[in-house]
Amino acid sequence: MVAPAALPAAGLFYWVGALGALYAAALASYRLLTGLRVWVLGSGAAAVGPALGAWAVVTGATDGIGKAYAEELARRGMKVVLISRSKEKLDQVSTEIKEKYKVETKIIVADFGAREDIYNGIKAGLEGLEIGVLVNNVGMSYAYPEYFIDIPELEKTIDNMISINITSVCKMTRLVLPGMLERSKGIILNIASASGMCPTPLLTLYSATKAFVDYFSRGLHAEYKSKGIIVQSVLPYYVATKMSKIRKATLDKPSPETYVRAALGTVGLQSRTNGYLPHALMVERRVPEAGVIDKPGVYELSKGPTGISRIHLIPGFIDSEQADWMFEQLLQDIPWGQRTHIRQEVSFEEPRLTSWYGELPYTYSRITMQPNPNWHPLLTMLKERIEEFTGYTFNSLLCNLYRNEKDSVDWHSDDEPSLGKNPVIASLSFGATRTFEMRKKPSPEEDGDYTYVERVKIPLDHGALLVMEGATQEDWQHRVPKEYHSRDERINLTFRIIYPEPGGVWK
Ligand SMILES: NC(=O)c1ccc[n+]([C@@H]2O[C@H](COP(=O)([O-])OP(=O)(O)OC[C@H]3O[C@@H](n4cnc5c(N)ncnc54)[C@H](OP(=O)(O)O)[C@@H]3O)[C@@H](O)[C@H]2O)c1
Repeated sequence: MVAPAALPAAGLFYWVGALGALYAAALASYRLLTGLRVWVLGSGAAAVGPALGAWAVVTGATDGIGKAYAEELARRGMKVVLISRSKEKLDQVSTEIKEKYKVETKIIVADFGAREDIYNGIKAGLEGLEIGVLVNNVGMSYAYPEYFIDIPELEKTIDNMISINITSVCKMTRLVLPGMLERSKGIILNIASASGMCPTPLLTLYSATKAFVDYFSRGLHAEYKSKGIIVQSVLPYYVATKMSKIRKATLDKPSPETYVRAALGTVGLQSRTNGYLPHALMVERRVPEAGVIDKPGVYELSKGPTGISRIHLIPGFIDSEQADWMFEQLLQDIPWGQRTHIRQEVSFEEPRLTSWYGELPYTYSRITMQPNPNWHPLLTMLKERIEEFTGYTFNSLLCNLYRNEKDSVDWHSDDEPSLGKNPVIASLSFGATRTFEMRKKPSPEEDGDYTYVERVKIPLDHGALLVMEGATQEDWQHRVPKEYHSRDERINLTFRIIYPEPGGVWK
């Protein structure tokens, strides 16, 4: 029997539940209708075109997103001022636009990273033009993710990034906004980045400059919208351009043309936008949590697509007392060296020290480690212990020394042809614990996007052995990321079996 005092409480719960459900349904309907309005019906409230003023001005207009804005605005009948560094590229884009869209163009050569004042020249170039649209697009990022202090040519990069990503947006706005206010109409599109929506470690300076652009745009929009000016903060995820180094456009990494067409459809409907439906959905889609493997055992990570991917974790394979002296000896006796890579014409040193043992050379990341058959007796002993335990015979060893938390190895698979099919890698760790991360290669539907793939974290401590077998190298990638807390030295010995590549010397 229900106690009489429970009845009013039950009634209360009923109404709270009903109101909650009603609120959730109303919110979902609102989101759906707003989504339909923005992404299906598109703009209309603010048609971006010559009615706003004859001219559009685009910074960074000779490539990527800027060039796509310039072309799309010209297609809509606007005359276009193109601003970039290279006169040659500006002439080429200007000719293309004039021929294709039959509109007037004007070029201004300016380097937004220059130390001298470029804005008087730009002001003179814009004199007398009725400017309806300004696209503050020019921007620069890093050649690769890096700790702030370790960015190559840091002093210059700080100055350039602030001048190009921040100062240009403020100063171009200062030049163009007064004319728009006089005519009570105009649109300013500021290209920020999704990396400015929350802090992005290792791209810290870039992401912070983009957060500035986002805040600047939102504040400015609030100040001037009642005066007929729209300021839009555009926050793209990846777009296939030179800057992102993505050559082939996909659904979630669109071509600049596809991105810009979609983004222009949101003007007047969203003052802050990801610009493109798949990018807007990324904000909603949750990245799955990484699993953690820290107990001894054999784990089947996946059964496909290529076969079974299996790892075997043996913490304490070498007991800690033995591991202590082995670590010291390896640290001292191994001929550690640092390799240099070149990426996008910037040379940088590999963020760890390495050494190679084996009678065959080993090539990875386009650099060859020369044969070195002079195995240290301790390494031979460790090789034999691992062979006895695993039943495999290894003929080569790549030694890695991570000197501190800043040393790392980026995502890769050990799948070079010289390692053969289904290579077995036995990885023995000494010294500081570092997290070994693994991620599944994306399915064809994900089109090369690793954002939502399965992930596993494995803390590898002093004396731990990790064996990777089966399809692990074909179906998974691994890395040792930089850490945000201090870490002492860690040595990692990765035993492998190398086969002669065509022209190799193994007998
Ligand atoms: N691509 C992406 O995935 C992505 C994602 C989020 C945000 N964004 C943002 O979108 C904007 C455009 O990026 P994008 O990927 O289209 O870049 P991009 O393909 O590298 O094009 C950059 C353009 O800016 C010009 N430029 C570069 N440095 C300049 C300087 N110092 N002075 C004047 N012009 C300069 C370049 O021409 P010259 O070299 O001839 O001068 C080129 O026209 C940037 O603000 C970027 O941060 C891009």
